[in-house]
Amino acid sequence: MKGKRLLMIPGPIEFTDEVLAEMSLPTLSHVDPQFIEEFGQAIEKMRKVWLAPNGQPFAVAGSGTLAMELAAANITEPGDNVLIVHTGYFSDRMADIFRLHGANVDIVPSEVGDLPSVEVVRAALTIKKYKILSITHVDTSTGVRADVKNLAAAAHETGTLVVVDGVCAVAGEELRMEEWGVDIALTASQKAVGVPPGLALLVASSRAIDAFKARKSPVRAYYCDWQYWLPVMEAYEARKAAYFGTPPVNLVRALNVSLGQILSEGMDARFARHAKNARAFRAGLTAMGVKFVPAREEIYANTLTAVWYPEGIDASVLGYIAAEGAVLAGGLHPAIKTKYFRIGHMGMSDASEILATLGAIERGFARAGYRFSPGSAVAAAQAVLAKG
Ligand SMILES: Cc1ncc(COP(=O)(O)O)c(C=O)c1O
Repeated sequence: MKGKRLLMIPGPIEFTDEVLAEMSLPTLSHVDPQFIEEFGQAIEKMRKVWLAPNGQPFAVAGSGTLAMELAAANITEPGDNVLIVHTGYFSDRMADIFRLHGANVDIVPSEVGDLPSVEVVRAALTIKKYKILSITHVDTSTGVRADVKNLAAAAHETGTLVVVDGVCAVAGEELRMEEWGVDIALTASQKAVGVPPGLALLVASSRAIDAFKARKSPVRAYYCDWQYWLPVMEAYEARKAAYFGTPPVNLVRALNVSLGQILSEGMDARFARHAKNARAFRAGLTAMGVKFVPAREEIYANTLTAVWYPEGIDASVLGYIAAEGAVLAGGLHPAIKTKYFRIGHMGMSDASEILATLGAIERGFARAGYRFSPGSAVAAAQAVLAKG
């Protein structure tokens, strides 16, 4: 690979040549007819990727944290009750953001590497009237995946709005926003959506927009306020320009390209490929004798894998693995930060990327003095990848 290192962290990811080429084009005016058309197309494609034919997309300059705040700021009013499904670092962040916007936040707790069951969340929803249930689809700090479909179904029993932080999930993990009744699903460009960092992306259901329109108090954030962004999104979709804050033109054009690539693969095929790639990674790592952070197989994420360092190995192995060609991420969850590492596998990752990464992991672990049978991880992953 001529010295190229694969970026296998949970975002930013490896981007396609077409997306990177689009980024490098001379920047158009944000009112150029060509840009208006491309922004309009990107908005339409977001609905298809989110599987939300009637949703309202928003694409705003910022990172995933801004997308979280766009969600919380617009549908929370002071005194609203919000219930958080605890998964780790990012569910804690969401709780902080809801609190900042005036919510009374309750948390359904869990151990590190786990999350509360649907039954426990359902019971918690009946204790008082909650306006919002907040779910982190994949908590990037632990590699734990929530059962959004059944959690959303439980929330509907009490008329509760469902907000999904899908930053490490949208366009990788199965999400059927409208069918499952999710009210806001948010993400950022640098993950499975496949565009360099810089775009906060969100789709809101009509229930979420109604909740926003029914507000009695002003939104407590100027840049986040949908009263400014909604007319901009509606205008571009109607192929007209509108201004609130200058759109990140190159990123929006790259988004249009990437969403096109995602849709030409097809959402079902894409979900299945992410699941298969994740299985291949886990098979390879298991063959090396390592263990995963999530407590149970049914909550393993398909977009990243969080792995305990085996006995005698620490974070210095990541330097060896990087030198062998794959950049991985260290720990993030404060309670276990130094004890595990994370591998991102989302976007267009293919068999060669997976095998090259596992090969680099094998060589890095060997350099760190870990005893295992070289080639075992690659062989185990091949066995999964070779199945049709
Ligand atoms: C699940 C989740 N939520 C929110 C965020 C925050 O996104 P950003 O770092 O783009 O602000 C991340 C980032 O990794 C994430 O993984």
